[in-house]
Amino acid sequence: MNCLITKGSWSQISADWLVVAITEPVTWTAPLKQLDHELGGVLARLETSGELPTKVGALLALKGLTGLGATRLLLVGTGPRQSSAPGTLDRAWTAAVRAISDKPHQRVAALIGPKVANGLDPASQIRAAAIAGYVGSVGQDLYKTERGRHPLAELQMVLPEAATEAEQAALNEGVILGEAINLTRELVNRPPAEMTPVAFAARAEQVAKSYGLGCEIWDQTRLVQERMRSLLAVSQGSTQPPRMVKLEYKGAGDTAPAIALVGKGVTFDSGGLSLKPNDGMLTMKCDMAGAATVLGAITAIARLKLPVNVVALMGLVENMPSGSAFKLGDILTARNGVTIEVLNTDAEGRLVLADVLSYAVDLKVSKIVDLATLTGACVVALGEEVVGAMTNQQDWCDAVLSAAQTAGEPAWQLPMFDLYDDLIQGDVGDIKNTGGRWGGAISAAKFLQRFVGNTPWVHLDIAGPAFASSNKPYREAGATGVFVKSLVELIRAQQPAVE
Ligand code: BES
Ligand code: MN
Ligand code: ZN
Repeated sequence: MNCLITKGSWSQISADWLVVAITEPVTWTAPLKQLDHELGGVLARLETSGELPTKVGALLALKGLTGLGATRLLLVGTGPRQSSAPGTLDRAWTAAVRAISDKPHQRVAALIGPKVANGLDPASQIRAAAIAGYVGSVGQDLYKTERGRHPLAELQMVLPEAATEAEQAALNEGVILGEAINLTRELVNRPPAEMTPVAFAARAEQVAKSYGLGCEIWDQTRLVQERMRSLLAVSQGSTQPPRMVKLEYKGAGDTAPAIALVGKGVTFDSGGLSLKPNDGMLTMKCDMAGAATVLGAITAIARLKLPVNVVALMGLVENMPSGSAFKLGDILTARNGVTIEVLNTDAEGRLVLADVLSYAVDLKVSKIVDLATLTGACVVALGEEVVGAMTNQQDWCDAVLSAAQTAGEPAWQLPMFDLYDDLIQGDVGDIKNTGGRWGGAISAAKFLQRFVGNTPWVHLDIAGPAFASSNKPYREAGATGVFVKSLVELIRAQQPAVE
């Protein structure tokens, strides 16, 4: 897609679509008035009849127009003027792009201006439109003979004045974020037979090459040498060999400590011998979303050249039942020496993360964030659209939550009271890998906490929002790429303050 900013009169821009934001209540800004004038007052009449779309993501297409450079006009609602709630504009623009991209090769012009779209500054509008240009035009129909969505040929942001440096930067950032989110979505949407641990690692290596990241891939032999027996136990029932991928981005020189982004990469979670029922297994190709999110985020961080050191660690396994599978009652000795009693082979994510988190600690990283489609319990607690956050250090958690807020991605903290520790006390080993029925998201986090030592750490359970069960106007069903934006915001916020 050709994504650019043009200065000039949008009414003359030739395009298949001109997209214009409408706030609630309708605000007759100068460009909107002019547009109405050139269209012979149709917008004013639509307002009178209450037919202008104002709700977030509501759309109205006007076709067969004259008096305009563009052949069609798409009005998109952006909601109440005062509420410039983060994420609102992303949703509105994504809804518009989704509607347009059902046809191939569309050339789209977006009306950007100081007063349009909830009064958000033009840079924010540009960024949102660019992200949406990528995310909204790619669906999950990777294998359909006739695709339902098509990349746009062109997205022009039309500004009344020449673009400022901040506006150009916003465009660049929107493109980078949109591509990163789509990378994450693509990896998650690929079928599990294709997106194996080896295939994921190969893709990560290729990505690392393109963006100049350090890359290390550990195979089975190395994982054994590194004593990652908890991770290996999960992999043991599968014919697919495991991998761990380590990507390094050094934006702050060789000596500054890194922030670790750790991702759960179970490329298919059958549950193992504690086999899932059909319905529960149906979407389990998404169980590597944590790893895919971390991969997407580090590409964006590197392309944006953020002055921070980041290491991304992805634990990749397939969880399968077989004659060689790990068993209930097995005792695993994790990399840090903690012994784990296996009570349920479907609580495998924490076993994978245990060793990868211990490795992050050994790397002496300054802080850790892990992302995992870890528990159904978190979806029960918070619903399908909200990320659960758990921590051992409140300041670091506040930083993560504030980044999520800036990015417009809902996240909510769950408590880590000491009383939950009892739930995972082991009988034969130090800890057991399930904490019983109640408080399952938290007992899983309590398990992970045994592997992070004193390093400030936030665990993000993305089991709900990583994979959407149905289409919404503002997003496609399937992988969502949730939290790529938030991770980038988080890393951006870590850069040293400029005096
Ligand atoms: N991958 C699942 C969690 C999950 C559920 C992700 C729904 C996405 C959507 C995880 O490995 C799992 O199976 N967790 C179990 C834990 C239980 C056995 C303690 C669960 O949530 O039921
Ligand atoms: Mn599982
Ligand atoms: Zn799982």
